Amino acid sequence: MCGIVGCVLKNRKAAPILLDCISKLEYRGYDSVGIATADDNGIHLKKDSGKIEEVNNKIDLGEMPGEFGIAHVRWATHGIPSKENSHPHTDNSENIAVVHNGIIENYAEIKESLESEGFVFKSQTDTEVIPILIEKFMDKGFDLEESLRKTVEMINGSYAIGAISKDNPKEIVAARKDSPLIVGVGDFDFFIASDAPAILNYTNNIIYVDNGEFVVLNEEGAVIKDSDGNIVDKKIEVINWTADMAQKEGYDYFMLKEIHEQDQVIRDTLSEKDNISEIVSKLDDINRICFVACGTSYHASLTGKYLIESMAGIPTDVILASEFKYSANALDDKTLTIFISQSGETADTLKALRRANKTSKTLAIVNVLGSSATREAEFVIYTRAGPEIGVAATKTYISQLVCIYLFAAILADNDEILNRLEIIPDYILDVLNKEDEIKEIAYKYKDAKDFFFIGRGLAYPTALEGALKLKEITYIHGEGYAAGELKHGPLALIDKKIPVVVVVPPGNGYDKTMSNLEEVRARGADVITIGPCGVEAIKRESKDSFCVNNEVDEIIAPLVYVVPLQLLSYYVSIERNLDPDKPKNLAKCVTVE
Ligand code: M6R
Repeated sequence: MCGIVGCVLKNRKAAPILLDCISKLEYRGYDSVGIATADDNGIHLKKDSGKIEEVNNKIDLGEMPGEFGIAHVRWATHGIPSKENSHPHTDNSENIAVVHNGIIENYAEIKESLESEGFVFKSQTDTEVIPILIEKFMDKGFDLEESLRKTVEMINGSYAIGAISKDNPKEIVAARKDSPLIVGVGDFDFFIASDAPAILNYTNNIIYVDNGEFVVLNEEGAVIKDSDGNIVDKKIEVINWTADMAQKEGYDYFMLKEIHEQDQVIRDTLSEKDNISEIVSKLDDINRICFVACGTSYHASLTGKYLIESMAGIPTDVILASEFKYSANALDDKTLTIFISQSGETADTLKALRRANKTSKTLAIVNVLGSSATREAEFVIYTRAGPEIGVAATKTYISQLVCIYLFAAILADNDEILNRLEIIPDYILDVLNKEDEIKEIAYKYKDAKDFFFIGRGLAYPTALEGALKLKEITYIHGEGYAAGELKHGPLALIDKKIPVVVVVPPGNGYDKTMSNLEEVRARGADVITIGPCGVEAIKRESKDSFCVNNEVDEIIAPLVYVVPLQLLSYYVSIERNLDPDKPKNLAKCVTVE
């Protein structure tokens, strides 16, 4: 949801480095891109709407003078994607340039007041008030840092801001509230960025900037200050992610690469077992669990409810983060509220976490190291998936599930499940080895207008996740439903034009799901079954089917059965000539409510 980068370099041009860094953040927004650098001749600015590659082919973003600057990729909130609305935004005298991730809620009234003072606005964005306010304060004699401080005192909302001025050679000032911001500390080069993958080519030394803090970056290094201007002594953390982890490594798209990493991701995430045991040992007195999350992380949470209630017998709720504040929640100190988030920066989830922190114990299950959720929750479990660049969550979903299985099994002293988790990577490799079969199915159904995905019990969240993946990257309407619930309404929609994907692992729910399969088949639907290998009835009753090792029963099925569904969406997206890594209207990290 917008990405920002800034750098101050020694004896080399900033623009090519900024272009490289911002390309790594394209997963955060890709409707516009821009770079501003500065030198003795003033501010240099190049920006336009479009993906980075398109814009770069047009205006050569890497070719600009100056050894410091800022860059931005945009996911539009205020104002359509256009050149004028692209960042960086400048003040009226074009001496100041600003990039911003977040939303300025009171921008309209500030804009009106600045217009009445004679300032002119070129864009429809909320952001443009920031350079103009900075200009106003600098005109009064305040320096860049002071002017940014005074500006943020006036704005409400969320922001990670980077600002440069032609009057402050080789200096970037930055501020953060509710949108992520990190500082990168190299030997001679210094960075700000929304996220670590942006700067991994240059440094692994990261400082996490907290809410209310300011950064002054210059050739000497980075200084972090609190809201009163006092220097804060921050720890430099060395992260073990590498730049290669954020490359495609021969795959056409990140999504495919990330699907293929899932066997290894499971092995890596299993290393969280000791940490989870330690956390569980501190939770003797909890009598209720409440999961809170959005999107794919919500589907992982639903799986958690089934597992924890059936294995550990602890009553468990699942609440969409954006709905959390509308119910009383009834949390108390015997409730554990679990927040699941790939990014650890999702605004809805963070708001709910802050609310839950006041009354309950909180645990965050997060992928991005050092993200806000990891710093605000009482307990943290890391999903060891490495950077996920494709907007559609795949390997991080699997790693969230692994954490949840570990948590539930440790809570319930269930060694059998703990042992079975070790074999999951092999089952996933089996599925990946038969990828071509899914490709063929995708080709057949690429022109469908609607899909249904159905499953029962633990297969129900898997069906929901299959439908979400399809909608997200193919723009085909996909609806996930509990298999037994179809007859209570949606069956009216089923006819021969609708493919129904039936998720039917062996176990208690098998026979009933097969009956639901018959119900949709009787209405002429094209049934695509994902079920156990070697079952004649499945082949006979389905138009198409994909089989999974029949040792994978319904208890562990969520960890394996989702993989063919991810591949199905991926290949339908490819058949439709879409870019699965950058679906329209979406962003990887949603930092607005
Ligand atoms: O970073 P988070 O896990 O908090 O993100 C939540 C959702 O925005 C995210 O899972 C979204 O639904 C995915 N793009 C789905 O593939």
